[in-house]
Amino acid sequence: MTKIAVIGAGAIGRPVVEALLAGAIDDVEVIGVVNDKPLPDGFPVPQIHLAEAIATSDVIVECAGQAVVARHAVEILESGRDLLVTSAGALADAGLATRMTAAGPGRFVVTSGAVGGVDLLVSAGSYGSVQRASVTTTKLPGALLQPWMDDATQERIRTTTEPITIFEGTAEEAARFFPRSLNVAATVGLALGSLDLVEVRLIADPAAELTSHVIEADTDAGSYRFEIRNHPSPDNPRTSGVVARAVVRSLSVLVGRPVGAVSII
Ligand SMILES: NC(=O)c1ccc[n+]([C@@H]2O[C@H](COP(=O)([O-])OP(=O)(O)OC[C@H]3O[C@@H](n4cnc5c(N)ncnc54)[C@H](O)[C@@H]3O)[C@@H](O)[C@H]2O)c1
Repeated sequence: MTKIAVIGAGAIGRPVVEALLAGAIDDVEVIGVVNDKPLPDGFPVPQIHLAEAIATSDVIVECAGQAVVARHAVEILESGRDLLVTSAGALADAGLATRMTAAGPGRFVVTSGAVGGVDLLVSAGSYGSVQRASVTTTKLPGALLQPWMDDATQERIRTTTEPITIFEGTAEEAARFFPRSLNVAATVGLALGSLDLVEVRLIADPAAELTSHVIEADTDAGSYRFEIRNHPSPDNPRTSGVVARAVVRSLSVLVGRPVGAVSII
């Protein structure tokens, strides 16, 4: 039995726990969930402290936010626990990425999360040089509003009747201004070997029923364009529903028991 603790009981953490309890991966046991608020009544596993998670689990699955990775990843890895990271954007902090890479004996992996094609980008990134890469994300305006925006900017985004580009810049700038939208850009940057390569564009579209990510990369190995159109999670419009399933799939690879009739890793 592999003992799993999950951090975060929200739009990703809860369905991850439910899928594991339903037997999505053989021979895993969910020992509990670490959460910064009391769990809702009827939550199917107990709430535990991080110290207990570290003491009693084999793998910790982060589904809580970039700040949790920044604060606890090194401690988790130094305790010998493996860590599955959902908040990939945390690794846009080069200092943290270096400290996590140096920490151990626990291993950390980052889920592919909301996007696909990252397997091919890893292969292309290791084949030769990367000339350019970009991620263009289109979401409903409300999912892109930020607390730092002034009232006029929020109003312009909220009431737009056509798609508008609200941000164009580097992944490093996106980390500062649109931290939640950085997860996909960071995933692409990590796959290609450098976050500096990734240009980020965010479009607010009032007609966007699905969240779309267009990933483009020109490399020595080839030119790639992936368009991903995800349905938002019913529990959190800023998160795509498929992410929880990506986390379960990544976990299944990490524990060496890939899901699916034929294993594709
Ligand atoms: N890789 C991807 O493609 C991708 C996609 C979407 C979201 N994410 C990441 O996943 C994270 C979780 O997404 P979500 O939609 O489930 O969010 P959510 O807001 O629905 O749930 C977050 C959960 O974490 C808990 N939490 C927050 N801070 C905590 C802390 N310090 N300690 C313990 N628990 C804490 C909250 O109480 C909540 O239960 C996001 O913050 C984002 O960074 C990644």
